[in-house]
Amino acid sequence: MNNLERKRGHIEVALEQHSVRSCFDRVRLKHRALPNVSLNAIHLETDFFGKPAVAPFFVSSMTGGPSESERINRHLAEACNELGIAMGVGSQRISIQEGNVSGLTWSVRNAIGERPLFANFGAVNLPQLDTIQDLGRILDSIEADALILHLNPMQEVFQSSGDTDWRNIIDDIAQVCAWSPVPVVVKEVGFGLDVRSAKALVASGVDVLDVAGMGGTRFADIEIALNPEIHETLSSESVFDGWGYTTIESLSMIKGALPQTTCWASGGIRNGLDVAKSMCLGASAVGIAGKLLRPATESTEAVLTTLRQFMNELRISCFGLGVESSKDLNRSHIFEITDTD
Ligand SMILES: Cc1cc2nc3c(=O)[nH]c(=O)nc-3n(C[C@H](O)[C@H](O)[C@H](O)COP(=O)(O)O)c2cc1C
Repeated sequence: MNNLERKRGHIEVALEQHSVRSCFDRVRLKHRALPNVSLNAIHLETDFFGKPAVAPFFVSSMTGGPSESERINRHLAEACNELGIAMGVGSQRISIQEGNVSGLTWSVRNAIGERPLFANFGAVNLPQLDTIQDLGRILDSIEADALILHLNPMQEVFQSSGDTDWRNIIDDIAQVCAWSPVPVVVKEVGFGLDVRSAKALVASGVDVLDVAGMGGTRFADIEIALNPEIHETLSSESVFDGWGYTTIESLSMIKGALPQTTCWASGGIRNGLDVAKSMCLGASAVGIAGKLLRPATESTEAVLTTLRQFMNELRISCFGLGVESSKDLNRSHIFEITDTD
């Protein structure tokens, strides 16, 4: 299976995944019977690297390579443009390695207008670049406002010819940070960032960490489903089902160890209340992927409907907590985090 077919497979299998119980159900926020705020005066506005956005959540990286992604990206980008929401594109490896810029030409930038837009590349693929400057092409192709590097060891390991040599990748990341003309974000893809890796990334010059924890899209399952040969090598498909950290665990650990570091949360975000809970746990912005995939395959209107629901639910959460701005959400708004479901 080549890279293009695999990317198509990701979309097909991810669309069929059913969400398991979410870690966010364990978090209860403090209700205020006398909120002393007006729903219509609640602010959700923020900025991403100096560019304004109407909400502190963004479309997390999904498609980048296959030609179908042009349609998906267009629906996402048009909806983001209409509302004023930030977006990350999926991995641009195919466009850089195979010269195929389908789905990621200036048309994404055209569709999203001036809204914040983030480039994406796999950290483990950095050693395969001829020079680090090659990344400039993927930044320029979408006039990116930031570069997101993803860490996906437990995804690569289940691919038939995945990249499983992760030695010294941190040095490549440090080189990118030293070179990059735009801020660098490093994210996981659904297994969560750990504190040791987070500290190494911050020491290397990374500007923002996106925890991308467990609880939403399950990439081990996706790769196992796409790779029949792997079945013989595992006693059961579910051996690694519980591997990683939930978004709550990862965010809490990293904010505890690195309180000054800007953290984004993603992984299993289902609605605007999950966004509010993530912000109470210390995230300054929140990424949504799987929940937007089906609407994105349908139409711009379907994406708009989902994004509007997120905004409405986040605003209601702020109202019920008695805060005027989503920027004011913090740990003091958490009533309890229960140990088990
Ligand atoms: C179909 C699909 C493709 C994805 N491709 C990428 C990618 O190319 N680069 C990346 O950094 N993350 C990728 N992701 C991961 C998401 O950005 C996100 O980190 C992860 O899915 C967890 O969020 P979720 O639970 O809201 O889906 C992809 C997710 C999906 C569903």
